[in-house]
Amino acid sequence: MTLQIGTHTLENRLFVAPMAGVTDRPFRMLCRELGAGYAVSEMVTSRKELWGTLKTSRRANHDGEPGPIAVQIAGTDAAMMAEATVYNIERGAQIIDINMGCPAKKVCNKWAGSALMRDEPLALEIVQAVVDAAQPYNVPVTLKMRTGWSEENRNAVKLARDFESAGVQMLTVHGRTREQGYKGSAEYDTIAAVKAAVRVPVVANGDIRSPEKARDVLAATGADAVMIGRAAQGRPWIFREIAHFLETGEHRAPPLVAEVRRLLLDHLVEHYALYGDYSGVRTARKHIGWYVRTLPDGEAFRGRMNTIEDCGEQLRAVGDYFDGLADRMDRMPAHQADEELSGEEEAACAVD
Ligand SMILES: Cc1cc2nc3c(=O)[nH]c(=O)nc-3n(C[C@H](O)[C@H](O)[C@H](O)COP(=O)(O)O)c2cc1C
Repeated sequence: MTLQIGTHTLENRLFVAPMAGVTDRPFRMLCRELGAGYAVSEMVTSRKELWGTLKTSRRANHDGEPGPIAVQIAGTDAAMMAEATVYNIERGAQIIDINMGCPAKKVCNKWAGSALMRDEPLALEIVQAVVDAAQPYNVPVTLKMRTGWSEENRNAVKLARDFESAGVQMLTVHGRTREQGYKGSAEYDTIAAVKAAVRVPVVANGDIRSPEKARDVLAATGADAVMIGRAAQGRPWIFREIAHFLETGEHRAPPLVAEVRRLLLDHLVEHYALYGDYSGVRTARKHIGWYVRTLPDGEAFRGRMNTIEDCGEQLRAVGDYFDGLADRMDRMPAHQADEELSGEEEAACAVD
């Protein structure tokens, strides 16, 4: 089933969540190849003085990426957000997504990300400024938020209505409040209430880690799509597994070890190309760790990875590890539905 945002038709209703420090271009492209219908980029700051930095230019790298190119922006000032909108559109963004979802810290003495939900007039002012800036380019604006500021202030429904009136064309809701961070479980009643309150597509997000959970969340919320973040770390094929299950009601067999070996090695090569050898070998460690976390001797292998500082050596070690694994098993282990998701977001999510 497809989904429309402005003039863009999305291939299916399984989205990769934006994750700063994770969903860079190589990872987004891998998820798309493995069944995700849509991928939002990592957040780009609205602070102009940081646009020239290596971090921002890497985040704005969309070379070869299948469209639509969706860029997420974050900030606390309406005029700066409008400028960031134009800047990113002129560099290829086809959809602008506003971040009101991160539990980020204070930036320039103001609250960014989901904290904006506490200041409704400012949130609305920002949204209107971004919509107005994108409108001449016919670029749709979408927004990602939480269920509210705190348990007592779950204002997602009110804000969703206001944002829709301001011209936002799709809303994603992570089923936690800002105060919760990553604690507790995501709840889906508020997402269902948002869906019932607006006409634009609504995307449900939070704690979806299995095909059954995706099916249940879609049914419970009536959402138009689900967005998956942490469960895709080291397991980008989760999208095709969910797609298969939603289509057939049957589980697709886990991937062959040989396929994952190839996917991971290709992923690493793309990763080094984006980050360069020095940063590449270091930032690749977390991805490798996620791929092997549930595999035999995965912990020990992860430890060994931290001592390797050369890309070629890292590639060889990963190749050898998966060759050894292929001698022991054909397919990756079936996923455990109750596997813990960790919320190591705070540092990566800093707006600068
Ligand atoms: C490492 C990490 C970085 C994240 N960065 C962003 C971000 O840049 N923008 C955003 O809107 N949400 C960000 N998030 C939140 C996710 O998009 C998502 O809402 C959250 O992880 C819940 O979904 P999940 O349970 O499927 O992981 C981040 C989450 C993680 C774990």
